[in-house]
Amino acid sequence: MNEHTLSAVGTTSDAHADYPLGSSDLEHRRLMLQARILRPSTDRFLRLGGLRPGMSVLDLGSGMGDVSMLAAEIVGPRGRVLGIDRDPVTTDKARRRAWHEGLDTNVEFEVTELDDFDTAERFDAVVGRYVLPYQKDHAATLRRFARFLRPGGILAFHEFDFLVQNPTWPPCPLWDDSYQRLTKVYEATGTPPDFGRRLYRTFLDAGLPGPTVECQGPVGTGSDSPLFPWLAYSLRVLEPALAKAGLSLPEGLVADDTLPDQLEKAVLEQNSQILATLQYGAWTRVP
Ligand SMILES: C[S@@+](CC[C@H](N)C(=O)[O-])C[C@H]1O[C@@H](n2cnc3c(N)ncnc32)[C@H](O)[C@@H]1O
Repeated sequence: MNEHTLSAVGTTSDAHADYPLGSSDLEHRRLMLQARILRPSTDRFLRLGGLRPGMSVLDLGSGMGDVSMLAAEIVGPRGRVLGIDRDPVTTDKARRRAWHEGLDTNVEFEVTELDDFDTAERFDAVVGRYVLPYQKDHAATLRRFARFLRPGGILAFHEFDFLVQNPTWPPCPLWDDSYQRLTKVYEATGTPPDFGRRLYRTFLDAGLPGPTVECQGPVGTGSDSPLFPWLAYSLRVLEPALAKAGLSLPEGLVADDTLPDQLEKAVLEQNSQILATLQYGAWTRVP
């Protein structure tokens, strides 16, 4: 069994009804793999946003804890991070990972719906990655969490944009068609697949100062790209949402443990270069 095998698909806790990615062992592994791909962008966005040693940080939708742990590295031992997420299984795993990394003295996690979270504490920064698009009212969520900031506090978010058409060249139709399934299933579940490009307007709609926005586009080349297992895991965890939307995998792909290898083979046959999901960072300070 190598890192790319997909045998651990079993669901470990009930998914929230309108959250397409669910909560399974495979989704937890997918989040950790994705975090490795996204870390350089998130690190850059948080630092440009103004995160500094000694700050207190609230991380929305903390998942497996990767953004909370990254923020904890930036704010250091004099700072502190609180990650919040509604999924108790994921949050328990995040706690254990932080303990393993020796970060448990300044990182805590709380299980809560974003809408139910409350505290008298005021933070230096509220951050989040891949969480705003899943909220029913994006601007209202931002507005609500800006209230937990001290004056001059920072809001910094990292979000995706999947709407890159034909991301391979030379064209690899199997990859492009598979990638477009992500767009289609997100549209079908009411989650904007292009949320990154909506960040500036969402901040304004929340009554916040217009954020600085930056975009990066990771590129995959050659064998062993983490994009192969990333797309395969994503398609697998989205299988129930795909089925509900009446969608299936592109013809020629089999949804089994070899899916990363099937995608890799098709891309390598063309020696294609892959443009991955666009990564947007947006940050601002409240008055
Ligand atoms: C795509 S994951 C991203 C996790 C993490 N931020 C990262 O980048 O690795 C989104 C996370 O947000 C959580 N989430 C989404 N909507 C939420 C809500 N309304 N309340 C609490 N947690 C939520 C999910 O449970 C999931 O763990």
